Parts: sequence; structure tokens; C-alpha cells
Amino acid sequence: MDMRAAFAADPGRFARFSAGDGDLLLDWSKCAVDARTMELLGELAAAADVEGRRAAMFSGQHINVTEDRAVLHTALRNLDGKGLVVDGQDVQADVLSVLNAMSAFAEAVRSGKATGATGKKITDVVNIGIGGSDLGPAMATLALAPYHDGPRAHYVSNIDGAHIHDTLKGLSAETTLFIIASKTFTTVETMTNAATARKWVEKALGTAAVGKHFAAVSTALDLVAKFGISQDRVFGFWDWVGGRYSVWGAIGLPVMIAVGPSNFRAFLAGAHEMDEHFRERPLQKNLPALLGLIGWWHRVICQYPARAVIPYDQRLSRLPAYLQQLDMESNGKSVTLESGKVTTPTGPLVWGEPGTNGQHAFFQLLHQGTDVIPIEFLAAAVGHEPQLKHHHDLLLANVLAQSEALMKGRTLEEARAQMLAKGMAEQDVDRIAPHRVFSGNRPSLTILYRKLDPRTLGRLIALYEHRVFVEGVLYDINSFDQWGVELGKELATQLLPVVEGKEEAGRRDASTAGLVAHIHHLRGA
Ligand code: F6P
Repeated sequence: MDMRAAFAADPGRFARFSAGDGDLLLDWSKCAVDARTMELLGELAAAADVEGRRAAMFSGQHINVTEDRAVLHTALRNLDGKGLVVDGQDVQADVLSVLNAMSAFAEAVRSGKATGATGKKITDVVNIGIGGSDLGPAMATLALAPYHDGPRAHYVSNIDGAHIHDTLKGLSAETTLFIIASKTFTTVETMTNAATARKWVEKALGTAAVGKHFAAVSTALDLVAKFGISQDRVFGFWDWVGGRYSVWGAIGLPVMIAVGPSNFRAFLAGAHEMDEHFRERPLQKNLPALLGLIGWWHRVICQYPARAVIPYDQRLSRLPAYLQQLDMESNGKSVTLESGKVTTPTGPLVWGEPGTNGQHAFFQLLHQGTDVIPIEFLAAAVGHEPQLKHHHDLLLANVLAQSEALMKGRTLEEARAQMLAKGMAEQDVDRIAPHRVFSGNRPSLTILYRKLDPRTLGRLIALYEHRVFVEGVLYDINSFDQWGVELGKELATQLLPVVEGKEEAGRRDASTAGLVAHIHHLRGA
């Protein structure tokens, strides 16, 4: 379908292919769909029983069938006090009790009541975690920078010693608090970084000081106790919260310390609003369902291999990385719920960078490359810096320009006319004009909101979580396990003694053995 023609023929196209919830608007009118497409997608959602599966998730059924677990991250932000009993346990009471404990601890750190071992106020919080125990809080802390009035926040995730080394370089142990965040409390990156952090504190302040400089977040409370973190500084969560869905609970502790409990609660309230929207709205007006259906359309029918998420909102610069885990760890699967092989493509490659920066880097390919990559633009109508409104106006002009350019393109005739009007010689026009053609008809959707405040951030993240859920239902896969991360972990364990030179590399494949030999050669071993 030709989008330029569709817009020309239908002045109501925007109204028809956009939907909102309060100040949050989703515009998919610049995607190549028509009324019949939307009708068929609605039928697809009905056939896949999106509504039934949604109800199963919210009610705590074990929809994560390969791990036999409920999927209840929505309970972490459902604070209405009505209670939710799952598997005989009052989930809501558990959630509230951890939230209250986190709030008390966050307030104590923020106010200076919980000091370091030498009595000094905590000025820096270092979260040590990876994947879901890092990306969510790191993304949210940056997004909520205008609300950040607590200690500075740092995030260490990589096993590469450079990460913790460079983070600690500017810090003083006396005023630093470490949060060890790991659902399983076994992840090698986190445990290695935690041990290094403990040595750093011990070296500076002595072993007795450790208790005042560590807190932990985990579902494995027995392992945390073994690490030596005292019970009153341990914040739990449960196996019904997937790592990549965990920012709403105790994993959000560094965010809460940064922005304060009341802003954190506003973040939860925003997510809960989106949960209610997702539960209650008919699918034709339901933002996560619409986003999911369009995503499925692009991936399965149009066969686009990727999608780009481009926030025109600098403080969302970690959103693409966060969504990579949320989306690709959830829907990068090849086996159906019934353990058969999937017959359609599943989750796309998700990537992105903030605008306008991307325009000066990879947008060339998005406009003129040989692959079509649908784009998801995000933008706030209002910035946090009224004195810099001119910047914000330019930002918005750019995001609008990009989606318009992608949709409209520029024909050869238009390119030629423009060049001739500038007085270029005919022979130069013949040679250069083809390079200045934009095919257009390239899909993008835009998510527009008033301002990136805690509530809005909560709504946006929950919108994406439920979109991933909807797409997972349409692909007929389990979006809540992640078996695909295991093989690499197992092999890394086997390869460590080989790298250390304690075991021979001979029995590995020739490439791996050759690389190990070269590492040893470069190290002068
Ligand atoms: O390796 C993948 C993974 O298991 C993610 O799913 C998870 O978010 C991350 O590792 C960290 O796990 P943990 O919180 O248990 O340390």
C-alpha cells in the first residue's frame, strides 16, 4: 500500500489510526495498514485468545509453563489493598511489606540516618547487578534525572574489571553504599563484582565496616545471608517476577534512593494505570494490543527483521538497551508453547539510540538502505527545561520531520525539479538526482506524551511490557523463560581454566584452541 496516496485520499487517516490514554498518544497512521488490515489483526488477536491469556497472566496462573511459574510483575504495582492470593500466598501483602521496608531504608540513606561505618552520610550508591538487575534501574534513574535529589547513583554490570575499576576510581569508601542486586544471587558477573567491592571496602575501612556499606536485593535470601549482608538490609522478591520485569520491586531500590519513595510510587502508579488500560480497553483502543499487533504485522507479514526505537528524549537514552532485554530475551524463541517448532518469524532485532543523534549516524540507512526497518519514535511535548524551550521545539521539529520524510520520501522528478530550481546543470542533475531519491513509504509510529515524569515513565515501560506479552501470544511462545542464555554460561565456566592455563585447549574446536593459544602468546605466557 502507498502511504502517500492513503494520506491524500483520507483526511481522517490520523484519527482512524491513532489512539490515546490521557496525554499518551500512539500514532500508527504512518504504518502501511488500512482498515481491513486492522480488522484482520483484530481477528488474529481473537483467534490467539489474547484476552484469555491476558486474564490468565493477571490472575496468577502459571503461564510461564517451562518454569512452572506465575507471571505477576503487575502485582508489584497494584497497591490498591484489595489483596491478591496466588498459590495460597497473599501476594499483595508481601509486595507492600517489601515496598515499605525499601521506603524506610531509602529514606534513612537519603536523610543521612543510615550512614557509612565512620558516621559520614552516603553520597554515592553503586548498584552491582546485570541484565534485569541493572538495565531497568539504570534506565529509570537516567530518565528521572530531574527528580534525582538523593545520593549519586552508579551502575556496575560488566565482568570486565574496567567497569568497577573506573566506577570506584572517583569514590570514597566511607560514603559509598553498594547494592548487590541479583535475582538468583549466583550470576558470575555480579558475584565477582560484589567480591571486588567488598575487598575495596575492607581495604579502606576494615572488615567490620562491611555491614554499613552493603545492601542486597534477591529472591535467594539464603545465599544473601551467606554473603554476609545483614537481614535488615536485604530486600526480597519472588520467582513470579522475571528479571527483566523486576524494576518495579526491590530491584528498583537504587531508583527509589535517587528520586525518593514518593516519586517511585508515582512510577508504580503510572505502570498500574497502564495495566488497568491493558486489562479493560477493547483491543481496538488498547495501546499495548495495538503496538503488539503492528509489531506482529511488521515482523510476520512484512518480514522486517528489526525495529528501531528512537527516543527524541535524551533521558531515555538507555531505553533501547532496556527494551533489547525486555523484547529479545522474551520473544527471541523458536519453540512454541506446545514444544513444537515455530512456523513464523518471532521477535525482531530491537535497537536504537536517541534522536537527534541517530540522524547524524545511521538514519542514512533507514531512509535509503535496502532493508526497511520500522521505527518507533518517542517524544515529550514539554521538556523539563522551560528556559531551553527553543531546544525542545527543534527536537520536536526533527522527530516530526523524520517520520514525515520516511513516509513521503522524494521522487526522482521531485529531486530533479529541486536541483534544476537551484540552477544545477542538466548533466549534473542526471548524474546526482538518483542519489537524492527517497523511496518513502517507510513505516514509523510515534508515541507522544506530555512530559517524562515518573508516572509517564511507568506508563511507557508497562506499555512496552504488555506489547511484548501480546506479541508473544501471537507467536505462540513462552515470553517468560530465557533458556537461550545458558549454553554460553556453561561454556564460559569450562573455558575459564583453559584461559588461566590450568587446562589444555586441545579438546576444543580448532578456532577456540587457536584463539586461546593466541591470547597466551599475546600475554607472553
Ligand atoms: O543471563 C540472563 C539473566 O538470567 C537475565 O534473565 C537476568 O536478568 C540476568 O541474567 C541477571 O540475573 P540475576 O538477577 O539472577 O543476577
